Order: sequence, then C-alpha cells, then structure tokens
Amino acid sequence: MTTETRADVVPAPFAAPSTDDGGWQRRHLLDLDDFTVEELDLVMRTTDTMKEVLSREVPRVPALRGTTIFTLFYENSTRTRSSFELAGKILGADVINISASGSSVSKGESLVDTVKTLQAVGADVLIMRHNRSGGPYLAARTGQCSVVNAGDGTHAHPTQALLDLYTMRGALGDVRGRKVVIVGDLLHSRVARSNAWALTTMGAEVVVCAPPTLVPARLGEALEGHLPRVRVETDLDKAVVDADVVMALRIQNERMQGGYVPGVREYSRLYQVNGERVARAKPGALVMHPGPMNEGVEISHEVAHGLQSRVEEQVTNGVAVRMAVLWLLTRNSTKAAKAAAKGAL
Ligand code: CP
Repeated sequence: MTTETRADVVPAPFAAPSTDDGGWQRRHLLDLDDFTVEELDLVMRTTDTMKEVLSREVPRVPALRGTTIFTLFYENSTRTRSSFELAGKILGADVINISASGSSVSKGESLVDTVKTLQAVGADVLIMRHNRSGGPYLAARTGQCSVVNAGDGTHAHPTQALLDLYTMRGALGDVRGRKVVIVGDLLHSRVARSNAWALTTMGAEVVVCAPPTLVPARLGEALEGHLPRVRVETDLDKAVVDADVVMALRIQNERMQGGYVPGVREYSRLYQVNGERVARAKPGALVMHPGPMNEGVEISHEVAHGLQSRVEEQVTNGVAVRMAVLWLLTRNSTKAAKAAAKGAL
C-alpha cells in the first residue's frame, strides 16, 4: 500500500527569480555578442533558482504550463537537445522534437516554410540547430515565436557558452581577471566564438590557441577592435602557463575536408590537453570540454576523467541554464508566464 499523499506529488510553488530583470527585453537568444554584464548576471542568477528547483525531490514546476516548445535540429546532438527537452518538461511545457531527417525538410521543405508550419501548429518557442550559420536568425525574422539558437554552423552556440560561464563561476567565483585558454579547431568552432563574447564581457582574459591553419584569417585584426581581451597563441605549451581554465575543443572531422592539419597524431602531439600541459596551468585549474570528446585526440583520457575535469558538471549545468533561458525568453510573452505574473502559480 502506498503512503504517498497529494502533497508529495504536487510541486512546491515556483519561486520566480527576482523582478530585478537587468533590463531584459529579449524574445530570442541568437548569440551573446550584444549581451550586457547585467543580462549575463541575470541568466546566472536565474540558473541558481533553477538549480534549486532541480534539487527538489520532485523537480517539476508549472512555470511554462501552456507553452509549446519545438526543438528543430538539422544536425545531430546529444547534450543540447536532451537538456532543452528536459528543461522544458521540468518547467511544465509541452516539448515536441523534430529532426530534419525525419521531417518534411527531407522532402525539400524550406527553412522558412518549416518555421511557418511549426508556428501554425502552435509553437511558442523554437529551439533550432542548423548546419548553416545564420539559420536561427532567418527563423527569428520569419515567425512570431521565440527562437533559441542551439548552434548554427560555425557561428554561435550561446547556451553552451552560458553553461560554461556558469560552471566556471561555480568553481572560481567571479571570472574577472581569470585566464581562460580555449584550444582546438577555432576555424569551425561556434563554441569558441560564443565563449569569447561571454567571457570577455564578464572581464576574463581569453587566449585562443590552434595551429595557424585552424585560426580564422584576420582573427587577430577582427578581435583587436571588438574583443581586446582575446589573444591568439599558436603554441599550447606557452598558452597554458598560469591558466585558470583550459578548455579543449573537438576536432571536427565532419568539417575537416580541407586538410588543415598533417594528421591526427601530429595534432595530438602539439595540441592535446594532457597531464603535462595541465601541470603548466595554475594548480587546480579547471579542465573543460563542450563535448562530444575525441578522447586521445584533443584531450587525453586521464585528463578528461581526472580530478580537475568539469566535463560532466558542464553537461549537468546545461539543464538549469536552459531552464533559465526558456523562462527568461517566455515569461513576458506566453500565456503561462502571464498567469505566473498574476500569481497563478
Ligand atoms: N556541446 C554540444 O553542443 O553537444 P551536442 O552536439 O551533443 O549537443
């Protein structure tokens, strides 16, 4: 016989994050290039609230009840898609997953028509990963629903950078003045770009490191005006000295048709994040990787799973960060959020 009562299964009231909203007006999350310190701080504080929800015995709140979320992925994903789906469900939204390969996209339907169709079905939020840079921007111009960029081509992956920032702040406190080394395929990395924006806005010093062939042409020039706290270094042994964080990026085999490196073995010899290189960083420096990892290529097995690794924590924090993003983007525009504002929760 069960002793469970209704009180055990009804979620506790959702303590909506502070009304001090840092001037948040956004309906879409496309990149972090125009985020202010106040907006990034608000996402971090809202994530703290979501962590509290996740720590409950029954981590479910009806904050987004009545909200319909579509995930539309034109590229594969494990972490981003599953954590967005879980984030939406924990907040009480209906979440529907669409893969381009299993949808009418495979019959030739355009991106614009696909977005219009999902909106006609009832989408309030569209979470999109696209293989082309700019895909989510086109979607945001097309429909009335909120659009979240879950990674577009080689351009941006804003929620990855937000969860990386949250993970760093959890371990280091303020990232101001901290040295963060990001090493890997800078040419194709949307993660590196979004991290550079978020981290420099919050006052960190970012060193990006790659073989010269994987550094975008004129990156140094481009950074000079816009991201003065980003420095390019092609020697990883030098780059990691005194680092607070060492983040390895995946060597993207699917984008490496141009023969950018002589071979995987040569790349690993010069650019693998391994025990020797981590030892040159500050004692206890954080080791991070957005995943998926090619262990033994850009990161050694021992470091990926060692005491300094934050890789699993990054994935875990992804759920709370994405809950925060969904809440912030929808709270002023959806039926459920309006109900919440009137104290209906
Ligand atoms: N980091 C990241 O975007 O992982 P997935 O491709 O598994 O979503």
